[in-house]
Amino acid sequence: MVHVHRFEKIWLAFGLCILAVLLATITTAAIVEGFVPPSRVQTIDPAKVAQTPPFDHPGLHQIAKGVFEAYYVAHIFGFEPQAIAIPAGARVTFFVTSTDVEHGFYIPATGVNTMVTPGWVSSVSHTFKTPGTYLLACHEYCGIGHQLMAGKIEVK
Ligand code: CUA
Repeated sequence: MVHVHRFEKIWLAFGLCILAVLLATITTAAIVEGFVPPSRVQTIDPAKVAQTPPFDHPGLHQIAKGVFEAYYVAHIFGFEPQAIAIPAGARVTFFVTSTDVEHGFYIPATGVNTMVTPGWVSSVSHTFKTPGTYLLACHEYCGIGHQLMAGKIEVK
């Protein structure tokens, strides 16, 4: 019989307790709170973005009065479209994908802040109440031209 030191036994018990607590937390979250991994997330072949509608024609689409959808393609080192113009009060849902590496999609002073991962479509909505020129920036380091990767949103 191998002799296990008392402190080692205490340490092992401590480790097992943490494991039990974490498993209980995950189980509770899944069963009681209904947490599940994201489902119905859009995927896209990053090599075929240019042939995949609606990303084959990136840009702004009006779907109702004051309601828009904007399809963006992020690539090293820019966004397509580079600039869009919308009326004040417009609600825009952005759909963004990348053709190459991980990028960011960030519009300061709004809630628009998401990562853009090749193979996936990121989506975020915002209502632009205040007129002005909004900067769109890549805030995920993506290579040597990262700091040049920007666009703008004109709210009139
Ligand atoms: Cu794209 Cu940084």
